[in-house]
Formats: sequence, C-alpha cells, structure tokens
Amino acid sequence: MGIGILCSGGDCAGMNPAIRRFVDKCINENTQPYFIYDGLSGMIDGHIKKASHTDVSGIIHKGGTIIRSSRSKRFFEKKFREQAFNNLAKNNIDKLVVLGGDGSFRALKQFYDDFGVKFVGIPATIDNDVNLTEYCLGVDTALNVIRSAIDNIRDTASSFRRAFVIEVMGRECGYLALVSAITSGAELCIIPEIEPNMNNLEKRLSNELNAGRNYLIAIVTEGTGKTETIKEWIENRLNLDSRISILSHIQRGGNPTVYDRLMGFEFIDFGLNTLLKNSMPNGVVTYKNGYFSMETIDKVVSGKYRIKENILKLAYKMSGI
Ligand code: F6P
Repeated sequence: MGIGILCSGGDCAGMNPAIRRFVDKCINENTQPYFIYDGLSGMIDGHIKKASHTDVSGIIHKGGTIIRSSRSKRFFEKKFREQAFNNLAKNNIDKLVVLGGDGSFRALKQFYDDFGVKFVGIPATIDNDVNLTEYCLGVDTALNVIRSAIDNIRDTASSFRRAFVIEVMGRECGYLALVSAITSGAELCIIPEIEPNMNNLEKRLSNELNAGRNYLIAIVTEGTGKTETIKEWIENRLNLDSRISILSHIQRGGNPTVYDRLMGFEFIDFGLNTLLKNSMPNGVVTYKNGYFSMETIDKVVSGKYRIKENILKLAYKMSGI
C-alpha cells in the first residue's frame, strides 16, 4: 500500500521542500509515494499519480507547491468523500500526509471517521494559527516577505511626511502583524489579540510628531477589519497624510527561507515516522520548545491558538497599552 501527500487551503513556502522529503523518505522506507494534485478537490476528481525522485528534483527552492492546493466545499458532502475514498482505493493508497491548516485537518478527521483512512497533519499556513504548535510551515518566509515590503514602504513614507497603514494576512490571528510590527519598529500595531488604547496612541504619537517625527508605519491584521478606520484616524487625529498598502497574496509567495526548508524536512520526518509505525492514526505534528511531537486532531481543533504573552507584551506600546 502507498502513502499520498496533498496540500489543502492556502499554499505557503516550505511545502515544496516538505514534498521533496516526503518522496525521498517514502522511497527509503520501501513505500510507494503518491501525489494528490489540487488538494481535497483533486482527491475527489482522481488527480493522483505515483511520485518518484525525478518529480522532486529542482523544487527545494521554489515557493508555493508543485502539487497545487485548493479549498473544497464538495468535501463536506459524504458522496464526494466516498468518491475520494474510491480513488484512493483504486491507487492502493491507505494513508495520507496533509499539509494545511486546522480546517483541512478537521475535514480529514471526518474522512478518517467515514472510511478509516489514516493521516498525519503537518501545520502549513502563513497565518500561524494552528492550536498547540508554535510554528506552522511558511511563516518565516512570509515574515521575511513582509519585512522586505515594510523596509521599502518606509523609504517612501519618510521621503514624504506620510503615514502608511500596512495590512497583512493572518485572518483572525495577529501573529504575522505582531512579529512584523516588532521587528520593523512600527509605530502602531493593530491585532485581534490586543484592544488598542487610541487615546494613549494619540497622545504619544502627537508628541512625537510635534517633536520632529515625520512618518508613521502602522501594521494591521486583515481580520480586524480596521485598516480603513486607522487610516482615517491618523488623518483626522494626527493630521498626517496617510496611505493604505494591502500586501495581500505577495505574502504567500517567495522562495522558502532556510528555516522553512529545514522545518519542511523535519515536520515530514516526524510525521511519516508516526504514520509508518501506526502509532497515531489521525494526529497532527506540533512543534513546541524546540521539539516535535504528535497531538490528536481532537485536541488541536478543540482550542484556539494563543500567541505567547511575552511576545504580545513587546507590542503593548504600539497598541497604546
Ligand atoms: O490562510 C491563509 C490565507 O493566506 C489567509 O491569510 C488569507 O486570509 C486567505 O488565506 C486568503 O485566501 P485566498 O487565497 O483563498 O484568497
């Protein structure tokens, strides 16, 4: 029997290195690796092929995923899950490795409950919002893309006496915005995890502008929905010309950093070892305090990811706290 790999949900850098390690390790362990193209949707439509070393040569440095990804609504319906199961059976696949976020893991848990197909989930999303893991594949690359964009925006902001409100991805999780704000020395950080004190921000920033500061950088998480409000606030309360820059899908691209390449290898090694030993039929690989471990899917999806308090505290000043 063989093992299939698929990507589900938003793609991210690090998926290709993980796919490469998956193929190499399966072959070393005398197990046939399969590619399932186009995520859950491709599993329903039978986009499946045997993978070999040749398929993964020259991909380690590439962003995105060579097997593509998707968000599938059809997978919520049992008849399509059954179709997917039949496609796996036709190809002698009885186990899956899934690169994605918790929504994808939930879908796979349903698939396991329906048909007993074992799987291991590898957290792979730039949002870094999977419960019980400190790291999701792709985050380091996305942070570096954002860092580079902010560095460029700062050049023009400071040349014009302007504020820039930079919206970053992350859905309801402020991790990308928070770390970017801290490491870029932003003046404002607006994330769902911290309720900003706008009065304090107004006092501090007005004083700084009066004392000679000539530009501002504000980083806002998309999920707060406050990008436009912050722009208007800056113009009305601080009297500073202001522009919005939505970084959007640029953040999902780019060559994987060294860290994401290595983490791709390590996540896969740990996950495949578990799957091959049959020690946990439907778990998620997590990374905490420098170590990998397995968590049950139920535990992962039963809670919400929380950013560590010590990192949150570093942004208090930027939120007026
Ligand atoms: O989950 C990853 C992510 O990039 C989010 O940060 C973002 O909100 C969403 O996907 C965008 O989704 P899509 O690529 O479907 O527009």
